[in-house]
Amino acid sequence: MAPYRIRQYEDGDYEAVRTIFARGITEHAPAAYVHMLTHPQAQLLFLALFLAVLAASGSLLVSLVAVLLALTGGWFCIRALWTGYVQQSLRSDLLDIRRSYLEAANSCLWVAEAEGAVVGMVGAILPQDPSEREHALELKRMSVGREHRGQGIARALCRTVIRFAQDRGYSAVVLSTSMVQDSAQRLYESMGFRRVSERSPSRLTSFLRFSVIYYRYEIPGSR
Ligand SMILES: CC(C)(COP(=O)(O)OP(=O)(O)OC[C@H]1O[C@@H](n2cnc3c(N)ncnc32)[C@H](O)[C@@H]1OP(=O)(O)O)[C@@H](O)C(=O)NCCC(=O)NCCS
Repeated sequence: MAPYRIRQYEDGDYEAVRTIFARGITEHAPAAYVHMLTHPQAQLLFLALFLAVLAASGSLLVSLVAVLLALTGGWFCIRALWTGYVQQSLRSDLLDIRRSYLEAANSCLWVAEAEGAVVGMVGAILPQDPSEREHALELKRMSVGREHRGQGIARALCRTVIRFAQDRGYSAVVLSTSMVQDSAQRLYESMGFRRVSERSPSRLTSFLRFSVIYYRYEIPGSR
């Protein structure tokens, strides 16, 4: 287990940071797909498709191929949602990282470095919700490279954000993660974050039974 240190983002980290973020997010697409398939509504839909094609064609093979095509389509749809989110993130705050995190007030991005390589990252930024901005900072873009997980790196990154928020007089840290990111949920809950709400970001995601979980950490001793 190589020792690691947490330090502020530098321009030379640009590609590594974007890659670690993109990999950390896209790895959840299969879990989101399985989640969709295990939902009774989706299963009923595939069954209905099978029976409809069977009634129309009278062919078991054609009905199975239709279901297989629908399953493949479902996979591409889910994968497109995840890669779409990654692309959108890479085009927003992660496009000009220096401007988004280092030049903006009350924002920062840190990396975890081990043996000279960037192996993890996290950002702190003003929350999107204007009503939160006076009281809280948002923890964003947490990701640790697969081969460096389970060493407490995310925990250390999380503590860095909390300390940063506390030093600036904020009373809370907020964040969001998805329902299929189990290790992230356990990480945040073990750090003392509590779930405040859970909602589906769009009609499509609602149909796919996919939701985003919102967490909040009240900084001890703050007003
Ligand atoms: C979530 C993630 C950041 C955790 O990184 P990590 O460095 O492995 O986490 P740590 O070693 O600091 O673990 C801290 C705690 O998180 C929880 N945790 C982390 N990985 C876990 C896993 N695979 N299963 C269960 N709990 C896990 C545990 O409570 C753990 O504490 P413990 O080791 O005392 O049990 C990492 O898995 C990751 O990058 N995932 C992909 C990207 C992602 O989902 N980011 C979150 C965006 S909101």
